[in-house]
Amino acid sequence: MGRGVTSASPAATRRLGEGLARKLQAGDVLALTGPVGAGKTVFVQGLARGLQIPEGKVASPSFVLVREYQGRMGLFHADLFRLEGLPEARTVGLEEYYERDGVTVIEWANQVPGILPEEYLEIHFEVVDPRRRRLTLAAHGSRYENREF
Ligand SMILES: Nc1ncnc2c1ncn2[C@@H]1O[C@H](COP(=O)(O)OP(=O)(O)O)[C@@H](O)[C@H]1O
Ligand SMILES: [Mg+2]
Repeated sequence: MGRGVTSASPAATRRLGEGLARKLQAGDVLALTGPVGAGKTVFVQGLARGLQIPEGKVASPSFVLVREYQGRMGLFHADLFRLEGLPEARTVGLEEYYERDGVTVIEWANQVPGILPEEYLEIHFEVVDPRRRRLTLAAHGSRYENREF
């Protein structure tokens, strides 16, 4: 993926997720940021495919905070969009997922200050036009800084 890339279709965004998944290790935490409709959930579908999780399962975790999938390792998918300013935001318990045998992916991680671990990989999504999305990677901490994505 490099530091940044433009996707020209949902399928291309899925492929980017699939490619990234091959480079992920258990214990990795990804923060997906950017506006509604930018392609964060589409990207997570690609991650799932790359982790050999059966197709078609990944949807936005709208009514639960975290959905769990099992492939070559776990995928723990959270969406904090609705949590802005809510007191329960502090008790989501995401920390327990960080310790488990899998990858934790958090949409709208920036909605809840303090929810992210010290080290994480951020992928920021921007809408360029109706079909194109710009994805920018930022490594936070040495766990990610020294790896190629
Ligand atoms: N290049 C692209 N990558 C990802 N999604 C795209 C792209 N072009 C159009 N779309 C559309 O944008 C929407 C992205 O939705 P979603 O992944 O749920 O966004 P988010 O989770 O960021 O709110 C989908 O309807 C998808 O079909
Ligand atoms: Mg989403």
